[in-house]
Amino acid sequence: MKFDKLAIHGGRPAVTDTLKRSLKPWPQPCPRTAERLKQVYLSGKWSFNGACEQEFCRKFADYCGARHGVFMVNGTVTLESALHALGVKAGDEVIVPGNTWIATAMAAAYLGAKPVFVDVEPDTLCLDPAQVRRAITRKTKAVIPVHLFGSMADMDRLMKISRETGIPLVEDCAHAQGGFWNGKGLGTIGSIGSFSFQQSKTLASGEGGICLTQDDELADKLFRIKHIGYGAGQKQGEAATGPSSGLICHNYRGLEFNALILTESLKRLKAQTAQRDANARYFAELIQDVPGITVQARGRRADMQGYYNFVMLLDPRALKKGNSIKEIREALAAEGMPCGRGYGPVYRHLLWNLPASAYRIHSRAVVEDSTDNRMLTLMHTWLLAGKPMMKAMAGAVGKVMKAYAK
Ligand SMILES: Cc1ncc(COP(=O)(O)O)c(C=O)c1O
Repeated sequence: MKFDKLAIHGGRPAVTDTLKRSLKPWPQPCPRTAERLKQVYLSGKWSFNGACEQEFCRKFADYCGARHGVFMVNGTVTLESALHALGVKAGDEVIVPGNTWIATAMAAAYLGAKPVFVDVEPDTLCLDPAQVRRAITRKTKAVIPVHLFGSMADMDRLMKISRETGIPLVEDCAHAQGGFWNGKGLGTIGSIGSFSFQQSKTLASGEGGICLTQDDELADKLFRIKHIGYGAGQKQGEAATGPSSGLICHNYRGLEFNALILTESLKRLKAQTAQRDANARYFAELIQDVPGITVQARGRRADMQGYYNFVMLLDPRALKKGNSIKEIREALAAEGMPCGRGYGPVYRHLLWNLPASAYRIHSRAVVEDSTDNRMLTLMHTWLLAGKPMMKAMAGAVGKVMKAYAK
């Protein structure tokens, strides 16, 4: 059959150029936002907790169900500030998953604390609560579950550990905008939720980040940490009260332009998340019987999942002798569906340069097993296409695995 011939061998690609033209670029520019940006520019009010920042913080916190939102310049300093507000300091330990962007672990290192890498669950690829329990020492002062690629760490079991030990959770929601766990917005379940709005994210402003919290005292600390000590509501040059003694504060302020872009984009988040979620389920269903391929599980109690990436896991043992993920990647790319790699273990990343004494690896079997030799990732923009695209993508995966699997 002509269609079965792999594109890499001269066959017709499963994802045609016509279909690919339906993929929208990301981030999505919008004329109304451009017009409003011009007005902010002309107003000369570009920073310092202006009207756009206040509006976005209120609207995003409401959307997720949090009492407070504190806007910052990116999703790296939000993590650092979250740990800082919780009192993490030099000599403490912070538990993080081994498979995340390095920022999650660097947040602890910035404060002189030691990131402790803990293994993940094989289905969701998010922090394994059983391993977290084993990794806790008397130095553990925080745990950062990452809702990896939009899937969800098991917040029920992690919160149980947190309640029993008094160790707070900082949810890293950089990949999970718009996700809801059993009726609660991600980022509102632990003590603080940290989000990134870097430009590839599903809610994006080039750079940007926010911390959500339900706690008034933590909100005040977060605000002061990012605003060189000023409290919320205080005008530049008119600090009525200062930060508590010893709380080192920074300039981590975000810009009005970014906050405005986010408020405008937030209007589309619900519909886009629903579309990604529905498409992800449909695509997962279409490829469920393809040999050698499983998909990253949805959050166990996800009502709505905010897919940053759709992740397929290849079982290398299912491949014919002599084939590896390299051949699968090349064949999928030829079919019009290039797949990314996901995150390898943080402690082996080229940009990770901390000496071995500055971190600890507690457990890593699943992290090691589910990286370069297994992970095929697709950006969230694919999930904003229509059903014909999902069918074509499934056709590509089926066709390639039919040729390469035993
Ligand atoms: C899981 C995770 N945490 C934190 C960050 C840091 O966010 P930012 O790039 O906004 O500093 C990222 C960025 O991609 C991330 O993927």
